[in-house]
Amino acid sequence: MRVFSGIQPTGSLHLGNDLGAIRQFTDLQSRAECLFCVVDLHALTVPQDPAALRAATLQVAALYLACGIDPRQAVVFVQSHVAAHAELAWLLGCLATTGELGRMTQFKEKSRGHESVSLGLFAYPALMAADILLYRSTAVPVGDDQRQHLELTRDIAQRFNARFGETFPVPDAFIGKVGARVMSLQDPAEKMSKSAADPASRVELLDPPAAVRAKIRRAVTDSGREVRHDREAKPAVSNLLEIFALVSGEPVAALEGRYGDGGYGRFKADLAEAVVAHLEPIQGRYRDLQAAPDHLEAVLADGAVRAGALADPTMRDVRARLGLLPRP
Ligand code: TYM
Repeated sequence: MRVFSGIQPTGSLHLGNDLGAIRQFTDLQSRAECLFCVVDLHALTVPQDPAALRAATLQVAALYLACGIDPRQAVVFVQSHVAAHAELAWLLGCLATTGELGRMTQFKEKSRGHESVSLGLFAYPALMAADILLYRSTAVPVGDDQRQHLELTRDIAQRFNARFGETFPVPDAFIGKVGARVMSLQDPAEKMSKSAADPASRVELLDPPAAVRAKIRRAVTDSGREVRHDREAKPAVSNLLEIFALVSGEPVAALEGRYGDGGYGRFKADLAEAVVAHLEPIQGRYRDLQAAPDHLEAVLADGAVRAGALADPTMRDVRARLGLLPRP
């Protein structure tokens, strides 16, 4: 199994990124060959301030390590450091159609209300397919919101193989049973998101304890006072229960048993402490990494070399299959 996944350096990472994606990365790293990428080229599909992009790229890389990704096991690198991502995105973009790209939910959401958006935003899924297929990856751990992009990647791989001969494995999405869809603390119908305007809708991995406590205290709940998991009838409380279960390691049923119909107050207070306890070691490691920036730089330099070495043979093969002349 070869595993690839990426996170965009746009805004601060939150519990959704952690529980939906990074948790699976750390689970997989000891049993598979893994590549974890900071996808800075994807971030450019919407306008970015250059200094903020630089800082966010380093921050995501540092949070990968702080959350437990071990660069001695996994390849940790920045997308733009391996130029083949952009090259393969072009080649695969010539196989993807405007019809299928236009049907992507994320594209529809991000382009809604704009008369015109960047070509990059439209072509985004071809770049994502390139990320994955460049390393002939077989498994892609992601949250539920990336399911459709993964389907398109599979279609593109199959299309390429059918036209030019078996080249790419068709990768499987690797989506957790709980945590794949962590919802907003302010609206349980919306997913927790880096780009939502209201910062109270998400717990960021670098939020200080006081902010975590305040956000959880303010989190919306459902009518009634019973702490029960029922996505339909009690979407807000169900979301909080799932977060609690994931950060504490206790099953949802045990938490329901403990808090039952005792009201939301104690439940939320304990949840806040569980989240604070979960984040504390991550924040400690993050601060250590900040204090020694050379280490992170060295990890990313090494990652770029290792990723580039894996990408080269794919690109030689792909170019030849498409009929591009060998490079002199
Ligand atoms: P991004 O940067 O939006 O999110 C990073 C990862 O976090 C997951 N995630 C969530 N999981 C659960 N609940 C949530 N509320 C939540 N919000 C985000 C995402 O599903 C994702 O796994 N297009 C991708 C980045 C990407 C990529 C790739 C991923 C680029 N190339 C190749 C995998 C393979 C994205 O924008 O993720």
